[in-house]
Amino acid sequence: MLWKGGAVAGHTVRLVTVQRIADRDLWVVPATFRDLWPLARLQRTCFEPRQAYSVFAFLVLWAWPGVRVLTARIGDELVGSVVGDRRGRHARVLNLCVSPAWRRRGIGTVLLAALERELEADLYTLMVEDKNSPAIALYRRFGYVPVAEIRHYYGRNRHGVLMQKRRGERPSWRE
Ligand SMILES: CC(C)(COP(=O)(O)OP(=O)(O)OC[C@H]1O[C@@H](n2cnc3c(N)ncnc32)[C@H](O)[C@@H]1OP(=O)(O)O)[C@@H](O)C(=O)NCCC(=O)NCCS
Repeated sequence: MLWKGGAVAGHTVRLVTVQRIADRDLWVVPATFRDLWPLARLQRTCFEPRQAYSVFAFLVLWAWPGVRVLTARIGDELVGSVVGDRRGRHARVLNLCVSPAWRRRGIGTVLLAALERELEADLYTLMVEDKNSPAIALYRRFGYVPVAEIRHYYGRNRHGVLMQKRRGERPSWRE
């Protein structure tokens, strides 16, 4: 569903999508400046400290042309976020994060589908740690396939997997 306007917590926002999750409305909306602090807090629940985006990192991304920072909210709670960018027809998924308390309910799926739609590219790529099986499982269900291993990308003996998906290869899953 694509609406162009809506209200969350009394503020007018551009609604990217809304879905029913666990009998609640899940709103996906672009991040506002005020979201940068809660976004950084959420990162620390999803990633180890050196991988978690800081407020400053979010500020730079949020202000950068071509970058999308989307938030997922249930009521007033920030339950997930996704960051991606596009150059020409190539889009990158830079970061995906769902609050531990809200995992396995389809929120990562909703966020990734929303980002792909927003970026509208021909080629989507992302990097994921080879041991991150939940994320790899999610990306595979979306049609991403591994195309290269970048050794020690995340540190010593922590390898990265470059995954990619071409537009039209598989529709975004569960839409
Ligand atoms: C990866 C992540 C975003 C998934 O979010 P989520 O909201 O739980 O994902 P979904 O509920 O949409 O899961 C969709 C599918 O992905 C797969 N999946 C997700 N989590 C999984 C897990 N822990 N184990 C196995 N498969 C998993 C399943 O196929 C799942 O479908 P199912 O629940 O019907 O079996 C979340 O676990 C997270 O934030 N992890 C920490 C941050 C991270 O690793 N981000 C990715 C970095 S590249």
